[in-house]
Amino acid sequence: MSKLTIKKMQEMKKNGDKLVMATAYDVPTARLAAAAGIDILLVGDSLGQVVLGYDSTVPVTIDEMIHHGKAVVRGAEGRFVILDMPYGSYHISDEDTLRNGLRMIKETGADALKIEGLREITPRVRALRRAGIPIVGHIGLTPQTTTILGGHRVQGRSRQEATRLIEAAHALEEAGAMMLVLECVATEVATTITEQTSIPIIGIGAGNGCDGQVLVFHDLLGLNDSFQPVFLQKFADLRPAAIAGLEAYAAAVRQGSFPDTDHSFPLNAEERKAMGPLIK
Ligand code: KIV
Repeated sequence: MSKLTIKKMQEMKKNGDKLVMATAYDVPTARLAAAAGIDILLVGDSLGQVVLGYDSTVPVTIDEMIHHGKAVVRGAEGRFVILDMPYGSYHISDEDTLRNGLRMIKETGADALKIEGLREITPRVRALRRAGIPIVGHIGLTPQTTTILGGHRVQGRSRQEATRLIEAAHALEEAGAMMLVLECVATEVATTITEQTSIPIIGIGAGNGCDGQVLVFHDLLGLNDSFQPVFLQKFADLRPAAIAGLEAYAAAVRQGSFPDTDHSFPLNAEERKAMGPLIK
């Protein structure tokens, strides 16, 4: 499968063909997603909670994103890769954002960067776009700033909030964003944004009216039992299978039934003879 271009993604929107995105954090997750035909891999800063064990995405550093971004690009098998800019890396100034963004693109080989925020981030989108970096906006529930949003709650339930989201979507498109992710946004508001824009709109907890969908790799495969939001559907239940496999391994080692001769390297008769009394 050849890598999707931004133009092709826009055509898919026009034709009503859904875009499928999943997060990936390393070579194995990228390879599995690529093998399954997932269109776009997102190296989300959900890395912080899903892989690194932090309480939120806030502590994630640029170095950590680069470390994992490089691995995903190596395993992506030609898929389009989007890399999250972590909290603090695009908040100071346009110049600082550009320095960080250029470093992240140059060192990882990712295809695009994603940043969170409403119309206040349009200068950052413009600065990155001027340097030729494709930018994905992320609006709605923005995990880097949940405190200011009043916790993990659905966005766009009031006329005022809906207006702010719709206006932000237009402003971000106008500033040159190639795509938007809408997280935990009331279905009708997300559908309205999708209909009023010409860039692909990818939802997560934003209903079925978007141009595509993104889910976190470990959540959609049932590898994570500590996160059960309403919008999450588990498409496999791998955690019990993984635990059962590890338990079987531990039991076999403890009983002495593993490794058996089929999984070992015994000497052949000639090699044994040549060893003489050196071995039993
Ligand atoms: O960090 C992430 O995984 C994300 C998705 C949830 C959209 O931003």
